[in-house]
Amino acid sequence: GIPKFVKIVEVGPRDGLQNEKNIVPTDVKVELIHRLVSSGLPVVEATSFVSPKWVPQVDYNWEIDGEKMSEERSQGELGGGGLMPKAALMLADARDVMEAVHGLEGSRLPVLTPNLKGFEAAVAAGAKEVAVFASASESFSKSNINCSIKESLARYRAVTHAAKELSIPVRGYVSCVIGCPEEGSISPSKVAYVAKELHDMGCFEISLGDTIGVGTPGTVVAMLEAVMAVVPVEKLAVHFHDTYGQSLPNILLSLQMGISVVDSSVAGLGGCPYAKGASGNVATEDVVFMLHGLGVRTNVDLVKLLSAGDFICKQLGRPSGSKTAVALSRV
Ligand code: HMG
Ligand code: MG
Repeated sequence: GIPKFVKIVEVGPRDGLQNEKNIVPTDVKVELIHRLVSSGLPVVEATSFVSPKWVPQVDYNWEIDGEKMSEERSQGELGGGGLMPKAALMLADARDVMEAVHGLEGSRLPVLTPNLKGFEAAVAAGAKEVAVFASASESFSKSNINCSIKESLARYRAVTHAAKELSIPVRGYVSCVIGCPEEGSISPSKVAYVAKELHDMGCFEISLGDTIGVGTPGTVVAMLEAVMAVVPVEKLAVHFHDTYGQSLPNILLSLQMGISVVDSSVAGLGGCPYAKGASGNVATEDVVFMLHGLGVRTNVDLVKLLSAGDFICKQLGRPSGSKTAVALSRV
């Protein structure tokens, strides 16, 4: 049977907003996190301590709203005047987000950290949980984090080691678990290898990411079987992007196989900027609607969640990517 309770990991403020083309001011990100937390979501991924050169979100801020942002920021950061390096701007935003959500009760608020530098910055900003992200595709590893899979695992061993000393839980992502934009199909054994490495180094949970959303229940079942042979199913999460509209069937299948942690993004925000053609994550509202329909508890208040989705869509000036949100807004 399927699990009675499913833990939803909301990734909208990170996976969602990292891919938005328009400026998302820090206070909007913070308000979104507040609303998501108050809807009862147990985990809300808050932001990312990555290199500014690799994430477009802040570059857009810089180019579109350069004057205003740089002036405002540099006063706080560098003591007034002048342009700031993009790196400082990026860190300033992630730090500001963390500062603003400090003390917020009710949800865990993990952040992404691609290396020790990011980990240290995250901890300094008050993060109590982090996530590292490896790939099952060699090409995607190179384009996303600029190193081989093997090198990334060595970096993440350093992060999990440092985290252990501070009792900070580390989540591990594997991306491209079904397909890669450059390499095509990815073999389940490759995914199982990376997942096991992350588990062995101490990641408390391994999230399996279909980054470009090409998985169907046919390919997902083989991938999950391979991973479940080497990592206990209680440690696994699934992370689907809805590019081909396959997320809900894939999630249902994953639940039937015993998985009880599902990543999703309010209003279906986002995508991955490094994976051409990747559309947003599966919408949290749609996942909650399905789970509640199955009699599975989530602790999420759908009405409050819908209002969080409505808020961010209005801010971004675009329609919701959630069918449930669209349907219920007409009622
Ligand atoms: P690199 O250029 O190889 O890094 O990038 P480096 O170590 O050579 O350093 C270069 C410069 O970046 C240096 O600055 C460093 O200090 C700085 P400089 O001396 O030139 O002024 N730097 C940093 N600055 C801020 N924060 C840091 C940091 N690290 C180095 N943490 C790196 C390698 C991994 C840093 C880079 O490639 C990176 O940040 N990549 C992240 C890309 C990203 O955010 N991707 C999206 C998330 S993954 C995803 O979406 C998939 C997922 O959702 C699951 C799924 O859907 O499948 C999780
Ligand atoms: Mg993703």
